[in-house]
Amino acid sequence: MEKIRKITVKDIIKFKSEGKMISALTAYDHVFARILDEAGIDIILVGDSLGNVMLGYKNTLPVTMQEMIIHTQAVARGVKKGLIVADMPFGSYQNGDAIAVKNAIDLAKAGAEAVKVEGIGYLSAISKIIKTGIPVMGHLGFTPQSVNELGYRIQGKDRISALKLFADAKKIEKAGCFALVLEMVPEELAKKISKALKIPVIGIGAGNAVDGQVLVTYDLLGLYDDAPGFVKQTANLKPEIIKAIKKFIVRPYLTCPAYRQAGGRQGSNVERP
Ligand code: KIV
Repeated sequence: MEKIRKITVKDIIKFKSEGKMISALTAYDHVFARILDEAGIDIILVGDSLGNVMLGYKNTLPVTMQEMIIHTQAVARGVKKGLIVADMPFGSYQNGDAIAVKNAIDLAKAGAEAVKVEGIGYLSAISKIIKTGIPVMGHLGFTPQSVNELGYRIQGKDRISALKLFADAKKIEKAGCFALVLEMVPEELAKKISKALKIPVIGIGAGNAVDGQVLVTYDLLGLYDDAPGFVKQTANLKPEIIKAIKKFIVRPYLTCPAYRQAGGRQGSNVERP
């Protein structure tokens, strides 16, 4: 059997120089991790968006290290090829570099091959994490962990904030990050940043002039009711799933051969085919 070669951070950087668009999607569990990996996604992100999507939180702020570790382990058990990146959750890197490094190590032990850190405020923690041998992906623009400060809106719209975002992106590269996620940024600005950086810029709601795209898988597939407006779905699976489940509700015995072998459920009011 052919041996599968893992995608590394070096490959991700090389993809940019080769002009290959980088694909990244979120996975929080074993089944989706396997599906994304089989489909050929380059980066499988255990995003802290699992707080909204998996756990029903209002935003990503309540997500804990324990939750990130459990979901990272589940994903890591399913991925053979894609690069596994795990989000450092809110509170895991803001309380001192040593704590940030310890938390990044815990995610690496859970199976993360890189971690993602939001914002520009913790460059020294980022550098120390990289020094331990754990690659870091930056994340600028709209950073969901700062939703209470930023509001849920496009970042870098005016000249001053665009200049700051550009300068911050350069700092992220200088700190040693291997890639940068740019979220909800005007297309022209994202293009400028992508051109100015050697590391890949992976956009989400930042237009097409970047080096790759990342989305929450549940948004892409039409499984999550509160998907952001910039998402272009490639499928609308929620109604399909409801249809499939209704088939089971009406005719559960069709999915259960043992039922037939046992002669059906005595006294059942379920209609037979
Ligand atoms: O948590 C997440 O899923 C993310 C991506 C949407 C970039 O950070």
